[in-house]
Amino acid sequence: VQQVSINLLSKRGLRIETAEGFLYICRIVHEVKYVSVLFVGMDAVYAANRLDGFNVTKLLIYHKGVKQRLVESSLVLLGNDEHVAIIMDGNGRWAKQRGLPRGEGHKQGAKVFKRICEYAADRGIRYVTFYAFSTENWRRPPEEVSGIMDLFREYLREAEEREQENAQKGLRIRYIGEREGLADDILELVDELERGSADKVRTTVNIAINYGGRDEILSACKRLAEQCARGERTPESLTEQDISDNLYTAGQPDPDLIIRPSGEFRLSNFLIWQ
Ligand code: FPP
Repeated sequence: VQQVSINLLSKRGLRIETAEGFLYICRIVHEVKYVSVLFVGMDAVYAANRLDGFNVTKLLIYHKGVKQRLVESSLVLLGNDEHVAIIMDGNGRWAKQRGLPRGEGHKQGAKVFKRICEYAADRGIRYVTFYAFSTENWRRPPEEVSGIMDLFREYLREAEEREQENAQKGLRIRYIGEREGLADDILELVDELERGSADKVRTTVNIAINYGGRDEILSACKRLAEQCARGERTPESLTEQDISDNLYTAGQPDPDLIIRPSGEFRLSNFLIWQ
């Protein structure tokens, strides 16, 4: 990552410690060359002063209500990365804050997913991976699970209908995850969409549904073990690359950036090898 953009906004004061910690990591650990910071709120000038001494190349201070510019600025973050991965969480909290049922949060999440796909294609980001449903998510209440599956279905149908448009944008859709457990009609739609978009190369969108990182690694190991058992490989010859080559993301670069909108910092079994 060459450039990082940080947006800080909160109703009551800025989380300046967060900014300081984040900048430290960018500069010292990742040697990021450019950092731009966007502050929204009344404490912006105070916060800006506290950042003195950091290698901040661009400091934008906006006051509340400048939503459009805020959105554009947030998106700068994705501009220089080859592979951006997103854990689609925070939906429940988003809905709760507004007194809405959780399902409304997921609906909103699915809308944002579509916007990000388009944005990624516009900007030429080569890979975007969305963690939409983990193997653990089956434990959620049945009505929530079926609501999420319906949103996925709805998207797949819509994507079929808008095939031309997606093709023009160069969007290639790929499913990553364990097929077993998914409804037949969803698998059929996924297969059609994957086939129909296979030759599009601008942006590959990986949708992780019924996905678990440990399962993914285990399957790769099993495949390699079978090759050894058949005498095609020897255990000594196995390399890290062999594992990478047997993951769902084979042939794709590892993510440069993983975004978790809720603000959590756990990976939750997502792309743990990558
Ligand atoms: C986690 O947020 C989110 C999910 C388990 C589901 C995300 C999936 C979708 C929005 C639909 C998928 C559709 C497409 C088109 C890919 P959470 O409910 O845990 O929220 P919280 O972290 O605030 O509790």
